[in-house]
Amino acid sequence: VYIMQIAPSILSADFGNLAEAVRVVDHAGASRIHIDVMDGLFVPNLSFGPQIVEVLRKVTDMPLEVHLMVQNPENWVEPFAEAGADVIMVHVESTPHIHRALTLINQSSAKSGVVINPGTPVSAIDMVLPIVQQVLVMTVDPGFSGQHFIPENLAKIDELVTIRDRNANLNFDIEVDGGVNAERIEAVARYGADIAVAGSAVYDGGDAAANLKHLKELIR
Ligand code: DX5
Ligand code: ZN
Repeated sequence: VYIMQIAPSILSADFGNLAEAVRVVDHAGASRIHIDVMDGLFVPNLSFGPQIVEVLRKVTDMPLEVHLMVQNPENWVEPFAEAGADVIMVHVESTPHIHRALTLINQSSAKSGVVINPGTPVSAIDMVLPIVQQVLVMTVDPGFSGQHFIPENLAKIDELVTIRDRNANLNFDIEVDGGVNAERIEAVARYGADIAVAGSAVYDGGDAAANLKHLKELIR
């Protein structure tokens, strides 16, 4: 039995029926909604702006977490916080001023998270661990849903669990994002992640509610 939440990523949902896509997973036992924000510069894809958060805020009471994959993330903290984001997460690779970006989030109504790409070591975020509520470990190179899980990154979960255990002043949740599917989810939970993002494994093919319930079964 693992205590791991699943955060469906609406990047894989039907954009023509986003509200319904959120309602379906809400009723099927999702804990939070993951919203991938892309600017076509930090990652080679475009996705959502703050308006989507504003719309979904009215659809569900689940926490809405915003994964910023943009240059100049500092500029987007206030718009997303005002739109109703509960958590705003920033890539350490996306700004030379990660401490400033996270401090801005902490001064807003949202909780803060820091994100590391598959090519970035945990040591790159050591200095900001005391000021975040979430650490997001990417298990794909960000930009698209439906990519293959990069298993070498599992070790980072272990590393973060150890760091957190040794330091009483740290209490972030560990989240994993990218390629988490029925084949991978048990390992992600076993390594100690608190939250797993699932995009295509929930929304691609068939019934999103059934897909989510199946994933939950696998970690029960
Ligand atoms: C990747 C995004 C992920 C993505 C996950 O850039 O950050 O959140 O939507 O989708 P899957 O689970 O299909 O890899
Ligand atoms: Zn994401």
